[in-house]
Amino acid sequence: MRSRVLSGMRPTGALHLGHYHGALKNWVRLQEQHDCFYFVADWHALTTHYEEREVIEKNVYEMVIDWIAAGLDPDKSTIFIQSRLPEHAELFTLLAMGTPLGWLERVPTYKDQIDKLKDRDLATYGFLGYPLLQAADILIYKATYVPVGEDQSSHVELTREVARRFNHLYGRMGGFEARVAAALARLPKDDQRYYDRQRKAFGETGSAEAWGKGEALVRRAAAAIEGWTDDQTELLLGHLRGSGKAILVEPQALHTEVLRLPGLDGTKMSKSYGNAVLMRDEPAEVSRKIKGMTTDPARVRRTDPGNPEKCPVWDFHKVYSDDTTKNWVIEGCTSAGIGCLDCKQPVIDAILREQQPWRERAAELTADPKKVHWIVEMGTERARTVARQTMKDVRDAMGLGY
Ligand code: TRP
Ligand code: SF4
Repeated sequence: MRSRVLSGMRPTGALHLGHYHGALKNWVRLQEQHDCFYFVADWHALTTHYEEREVIEKNVYEMVIDWIAAGLDPDKSTIFIQSRLPEHAELFTLLAMGTPLGWLERVPTYKDQIDKLKDRDLATYGFLGYPLLQAADILIYKATYVPVGEDQSSHVELTREVARRFNHLYGRMGGFEARVAAALARLPKDDQRYYDRQRKAFGETGSAEAWGKGEALVRRAAAAIEGWTDDQTELLLGHLRGSGKAILVEPQALHTEVLRLPGLDGTKMSKSYGNAVLMRDEPAEVSRKIKGMTTDPARVRRTDPGNPEKCPVWDFHKVYSDDTTKNWVIEGCTSAGIGCLDCKQPVIDAILREQQPWRERAAELTADPKKVHWIVEMGTERARTVARQTMKDVRDAMGLGY
């Protein structure tokens, strides 16, 4: 079975090359192997930009265009908008009931961001709760993998804790013991005794071997016994673990090794710093921006040798150039054999080549806004089917099934 992947992005501006190389490229790759859900995190954007509704409104569909331009294929990936699925808010509310305040206050991004974004008032309830909303986004799709930057690790870790706590508190509800017994009764007597032994060993020592043996037995039963249900598999695995049934799934963060693409001035690429090359910048604009890029400050004159390691243009070469070009840069820069404009030209050419298919796909969608809306509509309905089922399980588990 394909694993489920989920990730989201905040619609706060046109996407740039940093977004592409840092995240989107990986999203595109993942859709070939996994069942991928990608969403526009518009509520998340409101946690910091609640006073700027225009920013978000303008960027929602534009961001979806950037995604598809980059190669996300709506036939392979489910693309949707968070706020179209109130189920996310419902799960957030229900999880909020039992989530200790300290868990949220301790998330490192919380204090960091408040310090960093001094011009905004982030002493809000929504901002504190933001990682829990993210947990709801992930858990509602029972995602196995969450591709995110390192800065988001703590949010995925919180998500795991929230899921664990939920399963612990509510996984035994709804006649859990009786349903476990009914499932167990379907196994041959020897297997029942074997399962009990592994469960006992795992409970006492946490032995991975006991867990593995018990799990293998349950999987074998699932494959062999006629009419066995997924629910029964989960019941027996939950009982084996001693945590009750796993209603919510603990996800894993997926950090893919990415080459960092700095901004034009060598600091982090960000639209708000004005140092970004946008995915859909016109060729003339790309050329102008790269030509104006900061270089090794030691190369004041054309005749001064430079050091690529001190130059952000070199980081671009690492992403865009082959070995031959890279050797030409090192040789030419350190010997003052080439000028900085010469050095930048292959980068400009490579970006324009990379942008070509993006430009074509984006042009098609910009000319046909109905198509973009329709893609999002389809994705939203697909997502809703999954989200509804999870909410039903969650409500039942919490005693709200009436
Ligand atoms: N917090 C993420 C960011 O700022 C965006 C996001 C929201 C997200 N919900 C998510 C990412 C769920 C992964 C999974 O980049
Ligand atoms: Fe940077 Fe290239 Fe100029 Fe060297 S030659 S300083 S690597 S732009």
